[in-house]
Amino acid sequence: MLELKSISYAVHEDGNELGILNNISLTIDDHKLVVFTGPNGGGKTTLAKVIMGLVKPTSGQILWNGQDITDLSITERARLGISYGFQQPPRFKGLTVRNLLTLASGDEKLSKDKCCQYLTKVGLCANDYLDREVDVSLSGGEVKRIEIASILARNSQLMIFDEPEAGIDLWSFARLTETFEQIHENGTATMIIISHQERIISLADEVIVVGDGSIRHRGAAADILPQILADTLGTCPVLTKGGAAQ
Ligand SMILES: Nc1ncnc2c1ncn2[C@@H]1O[C@H](COP(=O)(O)OP(=O)(O)O)[C@@H](O)[C@H]1O
Ligand SMILES: [Mg+2]
Repeated sequence: MLELKSISYAVHEDGNELGILNNISLTIDDHKLVVFTGPNGGGKTTLAKVIMGLVKPTSGQILWNGQDITDLSITERARLGISYGFQQPPRFKGLTVRNLLTLASGDEKLSKDKCCQYLTKVGLCANDYLDREVDVSLSGGEVKRIEIASILARNSQLMIFDEPEAGIDLWSFARLTETFEQIHENGTATMIIISHQERIISLADEVIVVGDGSIRHRGAAADILPQILADTLGTCPVLTKGGAAQ
């Protein structure tokens, strides 16, 4: 179980304190699929990074399976079974896709078949990619999918995916959605997926709308989706003022 207790994160800009996350508390039970959604700049990525240990909260506490992990490093959290896929994944010159999957799995002798399975889950063909380097020669969508495959290979207890749909074609997106659905059905991992996609939101046990660094709404997908739509329309000046942009 993951528990966030009164998490706040503030930065200082030009002598002013800017609150990025404001007093967020939430509990996620084991094997749930939870979607964080909400407007750009709302704080979703920062919240994910706080859970992974990439950002240290200004105040508050994070508990994982009852253990206080607030002061643990990224590596220590990874050892405890938490993994995070960046919104914009880094590239690793000199490291092949096969190397990356092998490292992630922790199995030095990871078979080609296994690699192929992970890559297929994200819509890639192993034959085309295993020996490619994870460098600038890959497109953004390819790097993204390879990183997601590496998280699948890591087989963590808690997997956090930051906008997995970004830069991915429709066919691969369908494949990926199926993969999330399968993991969820297998009941082997807890997943936090940051997403704006209705298809992913509808898979969630719980949807948490993050805006202005706070939890704005939370609930079942069927209850939250209409609210998201209402909010989206409500904040669009063209639609609310009933006319074309001036
Ligand atoms: N280190 C930082 N310094 C200044 N502003 C930051 C920093 N980290 C995040 N922000 C700001 O915090 C807000 C939330 O960012 P983010 O968590 O990336 O939002 P989301 O993922 O919901 O789009 C944004 O306005 C972003 O510019
Ligand atoms: Mg983000």
